[in-house]
Amino acid sequence: MNIMNVDYTTKIPNNVNLAEDRQVLKALEGWHPGYLDWWNDMGPEGFQESLVYLRTAISVDPKGWAKFDYVRMPEYRWGVLLAPQDEQRQVNFGQHKGEKAWQEVPGEYRAMLRRLVVIQGDTEPASVEQQRHLGKTAPSLYDMRNLFQVNVEEGRHLWAMVYLLQKYFGRDGREEADDLLRRRSGDEDAPRMLGAFNEATPDWLSFFMFTFFTDRDGKMQLESLAQSGFDPLSRTCRFMLTEEAHHMFVGETGVSRVLQRTCDAMKAAGIEDPNEIEKVRALGVIDLPTMQKKMNLHYSLSLDLFGSEVSTNAANFYNSGLKGRFQETKIDDDHRLTNDIYKVLKLVDGKITLVDEPALTALNMRLRDDYTLDCEKGVERWNKVIEKTGVNFRLELPHTAFHRQIGEFKDVNATPKGVIVSDAEWAKIKNDYLPSTADGDFISSLMEPVSEPGKFANWIAPPKVGIDNKPGDFEYVKIAA
Ligand SMILES: [Fe+2]
Ligand SMILES: [Fe+2]
Repeated sequence: MNIMNVDYTTKIPNNVNLAEDRQVLKALEGWHPGYLDWWNDMGPEGFQESLVYLRTAISVDPKGWAKFDYVRMPEYRWGVLLAPQDEQRQVNFGQHKGEKAWQEVPGEYRAMLRRLVVIQGDTEPASVEQQRHLGKTAPSLYDMRNLFQVNVEEGRHLWAMVYLLQKYFGRDGREEADDLLRRRSGDEDAPRMLGAFNEATPDWLSFFMFTFFTDRDGKMQLESLAQSGFDPLSRTCRFMLTEEAHHMFVGETGVSRVLQRTCDAMKAAGIEDPNEIEKVRALGVIDLPTMQKKMNLHYSLSLDLFGSEVSTNAANFYNSGLKGRFQETKIDDDHRLTNDIYKVLKLVDGKITLVDEPALTALNMRLRDDYTLDCEKGVERWNKVIEKTGVNFRLELPHTAFHRQIGEFKDVNATPKGVIVSDAEWAKIKNDYLPSTADGDFISSLMEPVSEPGKFANWIAPPKVGIDNKPGDFEYVKIAA
């Protein structure tokens, strides 16, 4: 079998030679029915019988891995796909730097590695659960298809992590794989492991913000796991990143199209002041201050996903060669960091202060900073969209200390500018910076489904180009009656 091509002859498509790895194949086949039950219970509600124009990987070759066709989602060929192996690959950081990359789990790191895989794995089905109601209010067939594409790929990411658990972690791995199907987003008794993955995704604007901000956290985590000295994890994450790029595209262009539509509608109606919220809303579009509030919410929830700024776990993961930095191999230093420092934002005597910390324990903060830079670029592209329409408004990421539940700033209230305020003050101004119930109700009121090919809901502009270069009126989803 060519390592690049995907074997579709086994029940589980793969490029890891499962046909000859009987034990793992059997374990995965044993897990499959539970997965399908989960997908049918928790996957896109109301559209399981519809034909969706989806891409499926037929090869992990960067030039042409996607094949588009109509498929019913429960029949999607979820597979196990790893980026090709590089025989020369080494451990590139930490105390094992320079050793040959590991093809098996080093015994001493087994528990740590399993934890990394499980935490990543848990996010994948969670987002499918969070988004399962959105099909019913899709603003177009194009958007509906993109939602479902993201959903089936998150399902595949779960498969990717479960493969690692089943192949490399024996009985514990199998138990963890079962637990990944047992937890549920937002469930009181068995919630998902991370906060942002237990929040509701009540409407399409939330979905676009989620795919921009939260999937981008996913990208950062995958990027640093792709550096792992444990080669199967690295190869798995490298392939997942190719899919992740599409998820962030959906988020970024989704928000862009909302901004475009709002600004166009304001211009057409002669509204110059973006703060005339009622007038703008009367046009049936989402006002820009509300866009800013939604952004504040999703960005701050996503920052929490990076964990505490100072963390010995992060240092251990790095030292052990399990989880690197963003673009580790492109960084020009010793890749051991034993004597290095990194500046960390902390709360010192009630003031937000930059403090020198050992670089090793500050790795979460560093990854989060890289994430913020990546977000800023996207926000700048959004601002360009607004600017081109001539509307005078700029979106801005809130301060790191704003609305945090985890880390240094979890016990203080900070404004988006980073000014610390009292509880009483915060209660008064909170609705200026975070979406209120009324804002949510307004957004919900716009979520009328549009399912005629080529038509779009009033609050969002059409995309510039179709998926797979399809024309504007292409029927991306053939909805089953
Ligand atoms: Fe994912
Ligand atoms: Fe994703």
